[in-house]
Amino acid sequence: MTKTAEMQKASLRWKKAGLRVVLVPTMGALHQGHASLIRRARRLGDRVVVSSYVNPTQFNRRSDFRKYPMRPAADLNLAEHAGADVFFRPRSLYTSDASTWVEETARSRGRCGDRRPGHFRGVATVVTKLLGIVQPDVAVFGEKDLQQCEVIERLVRDLYLPVKIVRHPTIREKDGLAMSSRNLRLSPRQRVLAAVWAKAVRVAAQERGGAVPRRLRRLLQNVSGLRLEYAEVVGRHLCAAAWLGSVRLIDNRKCGLKR
Ligand code: PAJ
Repeated sequence: MTKTAEMQKASLRWKKAGLRVVLVPTMGALHQGHASLIRRARRLGDRVVVSSYVNPTQFNRRSDFRKYPMRPAADLNLAEHAGADVFFRPRSLYTSDASTWVEETARSRGRCGDRRPGHFRGVATVVTKLLGIVQPDVAVFGEKDLQQCEVIERLVRDLYLPVKIVRHPTIREKDGLAMSSRNLRLSPRQRVLAAVWAKAVRVAAQERGGAVPRRLRRLLQNVSGLRLEYAEVVGRHLCAAAWLGSVRLIDNRKCGLKR
């Protein structure tokens, strides 16, 4: 389905019939992390909508937007197999004269918010649009993007939006790398470094307090081809981002757990 009016009508019809509607927003290039969110959504309600829209306003680098992988046929197949009732792929969610933005100003600060100016404004705006179109009872978001979860939860609270936000744990490859659509852009050598990165985050998070980011910096300082962008403990999580060439990876782990 591509038409926003059709999507909204279908959803309102379901809700009138007393069905519980669950939304899983994505930007496509679906992988098993997304599939896990969709399966979770299946258990949470009666109708599952998976949206797929590469939102231009959340990319602060044009090249990242242009290179974002697109595989609509494979996505449709994966979404249906994981339990989606509707695969909603709008063509555009911005008219040329769109003039409304949604900006969350506390949780969007720090970490990715400081390094990607405008990113969370773009995310908050598009998620508000999707919630307005689909009007779900529940929406599922992955903890892989922890700061995004925090921003959306705050946005929903502050704007009194009638939707429950459910967090889903991070799904990882066998070697511990958090699944991400951007992993497709890693060269074979960078893919090896990405596993080193994921392990370093896991090991550093076993420390406590101020030792956590220090340990991560030390573990990665001699890894050539990988540049740590930030490492911070926020609440109980080590949150970090790194660059491998032109690919940016993020990860987070609960601190103080022996794994
Ligand atoms: P995207 O990166 O496609 O991710 C869609 C959803 O899948 C997000 O909630 C994300 O946190 C979750 N996800 C991605 N990889 C995951 C993994 N390895 N384990 C668990 N969950 C994972 O996040 C976005 O798109 C966009 O910002 C969006 C919310 C759709 C707004 O445009």
